Amino acid sequence: MPESGANQGLEEARALLAAAERICVLTGAGVSAESGVPTFRGEEGLWKSYRAEELATPRAFRRDPRTVWEWYDWRRGRIRDCAPNPGHLALARLALGPKTVRIVTQNVDGLHEVAAREAAGDGGDPSPALPLEVHGSIFRVRCTACTYRIPHRDPIQTKDEAILPKCPVCMALLRPDVVWFGETLDPGVLSEAFQVAGATTLCLVAGTSALVQPAASLPLATLEGGGSVVEINPTETPLTTLAEVSLRGASGEILPLLVEGLV
Ligand code: APR
Repeated sequence: MPESGANQGLEEARALLAAAERICVLTGAGVSAESGVPTFRGEEGLWKSYRAEELATPRAFRRDPRTVWEWYDWRRGRIRDCAPNPGHLALARLALGPKTVRIVTQNVDGLHEVAAREAAGDGGDPSPALPLEVHGSIFRVRCTACTYRIPHRDPIQTKDEAILPKCPVCMALLRPDVVWFGETLDPGVLSEAFQVAGATTLCLVAGTSALVQPAASLPLATLEGGGSVVEINPTETPLTTLAEVSLRGASGEILPLLVEGLV
């Protein structure tokens, strides 16, 4: 896009954001790319080097929980060292500002929450900027048999199957509290996400390939409800032609420019 076109797109997006009473923000792995968290698809994506069906399905965990835990422990280690980037912080500032904003994320890395606490500052209330995590959290574990679920950030011992983490209530294996392929999303979380997206004036979509359902349908709910969509992504996605404005570039650079002056 020529520079004038890019600037024009930014101005259009900023005007839509300024006019919107309610904003739903949908984020994907791309918003954390500039923090050093690998995305899933694309040249550098995790699914280029690893097979999703061997690592991110309930079947894979039943067959080989040690390998699955080893991979999650490696990802947790990488993410633990990452900090929110200017894109996360801009979204947190937007959500803490005067507009009604709800951040819905497919990310399991917890960086929106860190950004919310950072933006709210000491003694501030981060809750308006805390995201709805539709795919769970990599820093939470849950029992494979009962309802036990708890935050968990420490490294996992994965040398052999016998020492994998067990539920303190029923002794069954614990697993990462993330949504795997073939699993349904938490119905309460999902219905809240669709309610927010359907009732919003503007859905700001950043850093998602918009390929994974049902999250990819959230912007469609906004369009059906009469709202519009603004997209930020370095590449085209299935949403691009449906978006009122689609900004090509990195969310860590564009989001701060977009929310500047609004908060
Ligand atoms: N800024 C904005 N977008 C970026 C950036 C960046 N700096 N870098 C990459 N992107 C874009 C890519 O162009 C791509 O469209 O982010 C998107 C990342 O896409 P995916 O890797 O498919 O991530 P996501 O859409 O979040 O995947 C959805 O798939 O594997 C599952 O459960 C996993 O939640 C994940 C879901």
